[in-house]
Amino acid sequence: MKKLEYKVDVFTGIRPSGGLHIANVIGSVNTIVTLQKKEEIGRPMVFVADLHALTDAEPKDTQKNVIEVVKDYIALGLDPKSCDIFIQSELIEEISGLNLYLSRLITVSELLRVPTLKEKIKKNMEVSNASVLLAMYPIMMASDILLQKSKFVPVGQDQQAHIEIARYLARKFNKAYGETIPVPNILTLGEPERIKSLSGDGKMSKTNPSGAILLDDPIEISLSKIKKAQTAFAGEMTDSLDSLLKIGKFVANEDEKEKIEEIVKRHMNGGNVMGEFKQVLSVAMQRYLKDFQEKKSKLSDSEIFKIVQDGGKIAKENAKETIKEVRKSMQFEYIS
Ligand code: TYM
Repeated sequence: MKKLEYKVDVFTGIRPSGGLHIANVIGSVNTIVTLQKKEEIGRPMVFVADLHALTDAEPKDTQKNVIEVVKDYIALGLDPKSCDIFIQSELIEEISGLNLYLSRLITVSELLRVPTLKEKIKKNMEVSNASVLLAMYPIMMASDILLQKSKFVPVGQDQQAHIEIARYLARKFNKAYGETIPVPNILTLGEPERIKSLSGDGKMSKTNPSGAILLDDPIEISLSKIKKAQTAFAGEMTDSLDSLLKIGKFVANEDEKEKIEEIVKRHMNGGNVMGEFKQVLSVAMQRYLKDFQEKKSKLSDSEIFKIVQDGGKIAKENAKETIKEVRKSMQFEYIS
Protein backbone atom coordinates (compact mmCIF):
# COMPACT_ATOMS: atom_id res chain seq x y z
CA MET A 1 0.00 0.00 0.00
CA LYS A 2 1.28 3.49 -0.92
CA LYS A 3 2.44 5.47 2.15
CA LEU A 4 0.43 8.67 2.23
CA GLU A 5 1.97 11.81 3.67
CA TYR A 6 0.17 14.24 5.95
CA LYS A 7 0.56 17.96 5.25
CA VAL A 8 -0.71 19.50 8.49
CA ASP A 9 0.11 18.00 11.87
CA VAL A 10 -2.75 19.46 13.93
CA PHE A 11 -5.88 21.03 12.48
CA THR A 12 -9.09 22.37 13.96
CA GLY A 13 -11.89 24.89 13.45
CA ILE A 14 -14.49 26.90 15.32
CA ARG A 15 -17.80 28.29 14.06
CA PRO A 16 -18.18 32.08 14.32
CA SER A 17 -21.62 31.84 15.91
CA GLY A 18 -20.99 34.31 18.70
CA GLY A 19 -18.32 34.61 21.35
CA LEU A 20 -16.25 31.61 22.39
CA HIS A 21 -17.00 29.97 25.72
CA ILE A 22 -14.62 28.27 28.10
CA ALA A 23 -15.68 24.77 26.90
CA ASN A 24 -14.51 25.61 23.36
CA VAL A 25 -11.10 26.31 24.83
CA ILE A 26 -10.97 23.19 27.01
CA GLY A 27 -12.39 21.00 24.23
CA SER A 28 -10.11 22.06 21.39
CA VAL A 29 -7.83 25.14 21.46
CA ASN A 30 -6.14 24.17 24.73
CA THR A 31 -5.00 20.83 23.26
CA ILE A 32 -3.03 22.67 20.59
CA VAL A 33 -1.66 25.34 22.92
CA THR A 34 -0.52 22.71 25.47
CA LEU A 35 1.15 20.43 22.93
CA GLN A 36 2.74 23.36 21.14
CA LYS A 37 4.26 24.61 24.39
CA LYS A 38 5.77 21.18 25.00
CA GLU A 39 7.02 21.19 21.39
CA GLU A 40 5.23 17.89 20.87
CA ILE A 41 3.55 18.84 17.60
CA GLY A 42 4.51 20.34 14.27
CA ARG A 43 3.05 23.56 12.91
CA PRO A 44 -0.72 23.67 13.63
CA MET A 45 -3.37 25.11 11.35
CA VAL A 46 -6.65 26.49 12.66
CA PHE A 47 -9.54 28.15 10.90
CA VAL A 48 -12.85 29.92 11.34
CA ALA A 49 -15.72 27.80 10.02
CA ASP A 50 -17.90 30.57 8.55
CA LEU A 51 -19.49 28.17 6.05
CA HIS A 52 -20.58 25.88 8.88
CA ALA A 53 -22.15 28.92 10.56
CA LEU A 54 -24.57 28.97 7.61
CA THR A 55 -26.26 25.98 9.28
CA ASP A 56 -27.02 28.04 12.42
CA ALA A 57 -30.70 28.90 12.77
CA GLU A 58 -30.10 32.63 12.29
CA PRO A 59 -26.50 33.39 11.37
CA LYS A 60 -25.80 37.02 12.23
CA ASP A 61 -22.78 39.33 12.40
CA THR A 62 -20.75 36.56 10.76
CA GLN A 63 -18.05 38.86 9.38
CA LYS A 64 -17.50 40.58 12.71
CA ASN A 65 -17.55 37.25 14.55
CA VAL A 66 -14.95 35.77 12.19
CA ILE A 67 -12.46 38.48 13.17
CA GLU A 68 -13.35 37.95 16.83
CA VAL A 69 -12.63 34.21 16.62
CA VAL A 70 -9.23 34.84 15.04
CA LYS A 71 -8.43 37.26 17.87
CA ASP A 72 -9.63 34.60 20.35
CA TYR A 73 -7.26 32.00 18.89
CA ILE A 74 -4.33 34.37 19.34
CA ALA A 75 -5.33 35.69 22.77
CA LEU A 76 -5.70 32.06 23.90
CA GLY A 77 -2.05 31.43 23.12
CA LEU A 78 -1.75 30.45 19.47
CA ASP A 79 1.23 32.36 18.16
CA PRO A 80 0.50 33.39 14.56
CA LYS A 81 4.23 33.12 13.82
CA SER A 82 4.21 29.40 14.51
CA CYS A 83 0.72 28.50 13.31
CA ASP A 84 -1.44 29.15 10.23
CA ILE A 85 -4.88 30.71 10.62
CA PHE A 86 -7.40 31.04 7.80
CA ILE A 87 -11.07 31.64 7.03
CA GLN A 88 -12.98 28.67 5.66
CA SER A 89 -14.94 30.49 2.95
CA GLU A 90 -11.67 31.50 1.25
CA LEU A 91 -11.53 27.84 0.17
CA ILE A 92 -15.11 27.67 -1.10
CA GLU A 93 -14.16 26.26 -4.54
CA GLU A 94 -12.02 23.44 -3.18
CA ILE A 95 -14.46 22.62 -0.37
CA SER A 96 -17.43 22.53 -2.75
CA GLY A 97 -15.50 20.29 -5.13
CA LEU A 98 -14.47 17.80 -2.49
CA ASN A 99 -17.98 17.89 -0.93
CA LEU A 100 -19.38 16.75 -4.23
CA TYR A 101 -16.87 13.95 -4.72
CA LEU A 102 -17.26 12.70 -1.15
CA SER A 103 -21.06 12.88 -1.22
CA ARG A 104 -21.31 9.84 -3.45
CA LEU A 105 -19.51 7.76 -0.81
CA ILE A 106 -22.06 8.18 1.97
CA THR A 107 -25.79 7.45 2.03
CA VAL A 108 -28.60 9.75 3.11
CA SER A 109 -29.52 7.32 5.90
CA GLU A 110 -25.91 7.27 7.17
CA LEU A 111 -26.03 11.07 7.39
CA LEU A 112 -29.36 11.00 9.20
CA ARG A 113 -27.84 8.67 11.78
CA VAL A 114 -25.14 11.20 12.74
CA PRO A 115 -25.88 11.86 16.44
CA THR A 116 -25.54 15.66 16.22
CA LEU A 117 -28.07 15.90 13.40
CA LYS A 118 -30.38 13.43 15.14
CA GLU A 119 -30.19 15.54 18.31
CA LYS A 120 -30.99 18.78 16.44
CA ILE A 121 -33.91 17.14 14.70
CA LYS A 122 -35.20 15.82 18.01
CA LYS A 123 -34.80 19.19 19.78
CA ASN A 124 -35.95 21.97 17.53
CA MET A 125 -36.63 20.83 13.98
CA GLU A 126 -37.89 18.04 11.79
CA VAL A 127 -36.41 16.36 8.74
CA SER A 128 -38.93 18.32 6.67
CA ASN A 129 -37.40 21.67 7.66
CA ALA A 130 -33.74 20.63 8.11
CA SER A 131 -31.69 22.08 5.24
CA VAL A 132 -29.59 19.89 2.95
CA LEU A 133 -26.58 21.90 4.16
CA LEU A 134 -27.27 20.79 7.73
CA ALA A 135 -27.35 17.16 6.63
CA MET A 136 -24.09 17.77 4.75
CA TYR A 137 -22.44 19.27 7.84
CA PRO A 138 -20.16 16.24 8.45
CA ILE A 139 -19.23 15.98 4.76
CA MET A 140 -18.14 19.62 4.79
CA MET A 141 -16.11 18.96 7.93
CA ALA A 142 -14.48 16.00 6.20
CA SER A 143 -13.60 18.26 3.26
CA ASP A 144 -11.97 20.81 5.59
CA ILE A 145 -9.87 18.14 7.24
CA LEU A 146 -8.99 16.06 4.19
CA LEU A 147 -8.11 18.99 1.92
CA GLN A 148 -5.33 19.90 4.36
CA LYS A 149 -4.29 16.22 4.72
CA SER A 150 -4.52 16.69 8.47
CA LYS A 151 -2.96 14.18 10.83
CA PHE A 152 -4.58 15.09 14.16
CA VAL A 153 -7.83 16.91 14.84
CA PRO A 154 -8.44 18.12 18.41
CA VAL A 155 -12.16 18.52 19.11
CA GLY A 156 -14.56 18.12 22.01
CA GLN A 157 -16.70 15.03 22.41
CA ASP A 158 -19.64 16.55 20.49
CA GLN A 159 -17.60 16.65 17.27
CA GLN A 160 -16.06 13.20 17.50
CA ALA A 161 -18.74 11.49 15.41
CA HIS A 162 -17.95 13.99 12.65
CA ILE A 163 -14.27 13.14 12.72
CA GLU A 164 -15.22 9.45 12.49
CA ILE A 165 -17.08 10.34 9.28
CA ALA A 166 -14.02 12.12 7.92
CA ARG A 167 -12.00 8.95 8.64
CA TYR A 168 -14.67 6.79 7.04
CA LEU A 169 -14.80 8.97 3.91
CA ALA A 170 -11.01 9.04 3.54
CA ARG A 171 -10.90 5.22 3.74
CA LYS A 172 -13.83 4.85 1.35
CA PHE A 173 -12.28 7.25 -1.13
CA ASN A 174 -8.97 5.39 -1.05
CA LYS A 175 -10.72 2.05 -1.50
CA ALA A 176 -12.77 3.32 -4.43
CA TYR A 177 -10.08 5.26 -6.29
CA GLY A 178 -6.71 4.16 -4.90
CA GLU A 179 -4.62 5.50 -2.02
CA THR A 180 -4.90 9.30 -2.19
CA ILE A 181 -5.96 10.88 1.12
CA PRO A 182 -4.29 10.07 4.47
CA VAL A 183 -6.75 9.14 7.24
CA PRO A 184 -6.95 11.77 10.03
CA ASN A 185 -7.01 10.98 13.76
CA ILE A 186 -8.88 12.42 16.71
CA LEU A 187 -6.60 14.15 19.23
CA THR A 188 -7.41 14.69 22.90
CA LEU A 189 -5.17 15.31 25.91
CA GLY A 190 -7.08 12.71 27.96
CA GLU A 191 -10.69 11.63 27.75
CA PRO A 192 -12.73 13.54 25.12
CA GLU A 193 -14.19 16.61 26.82
CA ARG A 194 -17.89 17.33 27.25
CA ILE A 195 -18.25 20.30 29.59
CA LYS A 196 -21.77 20.68 30.91
CA SER A 197 -23.77 23.88 30.97
CA LEU A 198 -23.43 25.64 34.35
CA SER A 199 -27.19 25.56 34.64
CA GLY A 200 -27.08 21.76 34.36
CA ASP A 201 -29.12 21.45 31.16
CA GLY A 202 -27.04 19.73 28.48
CA LYS A 203 -23.57 20.71 27.29
CA MET A 204 -22.16 24.22 27.55
CA SER A 205 -23.06 25.87 24.27
CA LYS A 206 -23.36 29.21 22.51
CA THR A 207 -27.09 28.60 22.08
CA ASN A 208 -27.58 28.56 25.86
CA PRO A 209 -25.54 31.57 27.05
CA SER A 210 -27.01 31.56 30.57
CA GLY A 211 -25.07 28.35 31.30
CA ALA A 212 -21.88 29.36 29.49
CA ILE A 213 -18.79 31.30 30.57
CA LEU A 214 -18.38 33.55 27.53
CA LEU A 215 -14.83 34.82 27.23
CA ASP A 216 -15.85 38.31 26.09
CA ASP A 217 -18.56 38.88 28.68
CA PRO A 218 -17.99 41.46 31.43
CA ILE A 219 -16.23 39.46 34.17
CA GLU A 220 -18.93 40.13 36.81
CA ILE A 221 -21.47 38.32 34.60
CA SER A 222 -19.30 35.19 34.50
CA LEU A 223 -18.76 35.36 38.25
CA SER A 224 -22.48 35.59 38.86
CA LYS A 225 -23.02 32.51 36.66
CA ILE A 226 -20.46 30.65 38.77
CA LYS A 227 -22.32 31.68 41.92
CA LYS A 228 -25.52 30.12 40.56
CA ALA A 229 -23.81 27.07 38.97
CA GLN A 230 -25.10 23.58 39.75
CA THR A 231 -22.79 21.48 41.91
CA ALA A 232 -23.69 18.40 44.02
CA PHE A 233 -24.84 17.43 47.50
CA ALA A 234 -22.03 16.83 50.01
CA GLY A 235 -20.47 13.41 49.40
CA GLU A 236 -21.78 13.16 45.82
CA MET A 237 -20.09 13.56 42.45
CA THR A 238 -22.33 14.66 39.59
CA ASP A 239 -21.57 15.44 35.94
CA SER A 240 -22.25 19.12 36.70
CA LEU A 241 -19.71 19.21 39.52
CA ASP A 242 -17.22 17.20 37.49
CA SER A 243 -17.44 19.79 34.67
CA LEU A 244 -17.11 22.69 37.08
CA LEU A 245 -14.02 21.04 38.60
CA LYS A 246 -12.51 20.63 35.13
CA ILE A 247 -13.11 24.32 34.44
CA GLY A 248 -11.63 25.18 37.84
CA LYS A 249 -8.49 23.12 37.29
CA PHE A 250 -8.12 24.61 33.83
CA VAL A 251 -8.09 28.25 34.97
CA ALA A 252 -6.31 27.63 38.32
CA ASN A 253 -2.63 28.19 39.10
CA GLU A 254 -0.66 25.43 40.88
CA ASP A 255 -1.63 26.57 44.41
CA GLU A 256 -5.30 26.84 43.48
CA LYS A 257 -5.21 23.40 41.84
CA GLU A 258 -3.93 21.88 45.11
CA LYS A 259 -6.60 23.74 47.03
CA ILE A 260 -9.29 22.41 44.70
CA GLU A 261 -8.02 18.82 45.14
CA GLU A 262 -8.15 19.25 48.89
CA ILE A 263 -11.68 20.76 48.78
CA VAL A 264 -12.90 17.85 46.63
CA LYS A 265 -11.59 15.38 49.24
CA ARG A 266 -13.53 17.18 51.97
CA HIS A 267 -16.61 17.31 49.75
CA MET A 268 -16.47 13.54 49.11
CA ASN A 269 -16.14 12.98 52.84
CA GLY A 270 -19.44 14.78 53.36
CA GLY A 271 -18.13 18.31 53.98
CA ASN A 272 -20.22 21.34 53.05
CA VAL A 273 -17.55 23.03 50.93
CA MET A 274 -19.09 24.06 47.61
CA GLY A 275 -19.11 27.74 48.63
CA GLU A 276 -15.38 27.53 49.32
CA PHE A 277 -14.78 25.83 45.97
CA LYS A 278 -16.74 28.50 44.12
CA GLN A 279 -14.65 31.16 45.80
CA VAL A 280 -11.38 29.62 44.57
CA LEU A 281 -12.92 29.14 41.13
CA SER A 282 -14.09 32.76 40.99
CA VAL A 283 -10.65 34.16 41.86
CA ALA A 284 -8.98 31.95 39.24
CA MET A 285 -11.62 32.72 36.62
CA GLN A 286 -11.38 36.44 37.22
CA ARG A 287 -7.61 36.33 36.61
CA TYR A 288 -7.98 34.08 33.55
CA LEU A 289 -10.62 36.25 31.88
CA LYS A 290 -8.82 39.49 32.70
CA ASP A 291 -5.62 38.20 31.13
CA PHE A 292 -7.49 36.93 28.06
CA GLN A 293 -9.44 40.16 27.56
CA GLU A 294 -6.32 42.29 27.95
CA LYS A 295 -4.43 40.25 25.37
CA LYS A 296 -7.37 40.35 22.98
CA SER A 297 -7.85 44.11 23.29
CA LYS A 298 -4.30 44.67 22.03
CA LEU A 299 -5.00 42.96 18.69
CA SER A 300 -6.03 45.23 15.83
CA ASP A 301 -8.29 44.27 12.94
CA SER A 302 -5.60 45.17 10.41
CA GLU A 303 -3.10 42.75 11.91
CA ILE A 304 -5.78 40.04 11.89
CA PHE A 305 -6.44 40.63 8.16
CA LYS A 306 -2.75 40.16 7.43
CA ILE A 307 -2.59 36.95 9.48
CA VAL A 308 -5.58 35.35 7.75
CA GLN A 309 -4.32 36.45 4.37
CA ASP A 310 -1.01 34.67 4.95
CA GLY A 311 -2.68 31.59 6.47
CA GLY A 312 -5.24 31.53 3.66
CA LYS A 313 -2.51 31.32 1.03
CA ILE A 314 -1.01 28.22 2.65
CA ALA A 315 -4.39 26.56 3.18
CA LYS A 316 -5.41 27.33 -0.41
CA GLU A 317 -2.19 25.90 -1.80
CA ASN A 318 -2.65 22.66 0.19
CA ALA A 319 -6.30 22.42 -0.83
CA LYS A 320 -5.53 22.95 -4.52
CA GLU A 321 -2.88 20.24 -4.46
CA THR A 322 -5.22 17.78 -2.74
CA ILE A 323 -8.07 18.46 -5.16
CA LYS A 324 -5.70 17.94 -8.07
CA GLU A 325 -4.68 14.56 -6.67
CA VAL A 326 -8.29 13.65 -5.94
CA ARG A 327 -9.33 14.47 -9.48
CA LYS A 328 -6.42 12.49 -10.87
CA SER A 329 -7.37 9.43 -8.80
CA MET A 330 -10.98 9.77 -9.98
CA GLN A 331 -9.74 10.05 -13.58
CA PHE A 332 -11.17 13.53 -13.91
CA GLU A 333 -7.90 15.09 -14.91
CA TYR A 334 -8.10 15.46 -18.65
CA ILE A 335 -5.34 17.99 -19.18
CA SER A 336 -2.06 17.35 -17.41
P1 TYM B 1 -17.94 24.57 17.45
O1 TYM B 1 -17.70 25.95 16.99
O2 TYM B 1 -19.30 24.16 17.81
O3 TYM B 1 -17.00 24.23 18.67
C1 TYM B 1 -15.60 24.47 18.63
C2 TYM B 1 -14.88 23.41 19.46
O4 TYM B 1 -15.33 23.45 20.82
C3 TYM B 1 -15.71 22.15 21.24
N1 TYM B 1 -16.81 22.24 22.20
C4 TYM B 1 -16.81 21.65 23.39
N2 TYM B 1 -15.90 20.89 24.02
C5 TYM B 1 -16.21 20.43 25.27
N3 TYM B 1 -17.39 20.71 25.88
C6 TYM B 1 -18.34 21.46 25.29
N4 TYM B 1 -19.47 21.75 25.91
C7 TYM B 1 -18.07 21.98 23.98
N5 TYM B 1 -18.76 22.76 23.11
C8 TYM B 1 -17.97 22.91 22.03
C9 TYM B 1 -16.16 21.45 19.95
O5 TYM B 1 -16.12 20.05 20.09
C10 TYM B 1 -15.16 21.97 18.96
O6 TYM B 1 -13.97 21.23 18.99
N6 TYM B 1 -18.09 21.74 13.38
C11 TYM B 1 -17.16 22.44 14.22
C12 TYM B 1 -16.23 23.36 13.46
C13 TYM B 1 -15.52 22.67 12.36
C14 TYM B 1 -14.39 21.83 12.50
C15 TYM B 1 -14.06 21.41 11.17
C16 TYM B 1 -13.64 21.38 13.58
C17 TYM B 1 -15.82 22.77 11.02
N7 TYM B 1 -14.94 21.99 10.31
C18 TYM B 1 -12.97 20.55 10.91
C19 TYM B 1 -12.57 20.52 13.34
C20 TYM B 1 -12.24 20.13 12.03
C21 TYM B 1 -17.97 23.25 15.23
O7 TYM B 1 -19.06 23.65 14.95
O8 TYM B 1 -17.34 23.54 16.37
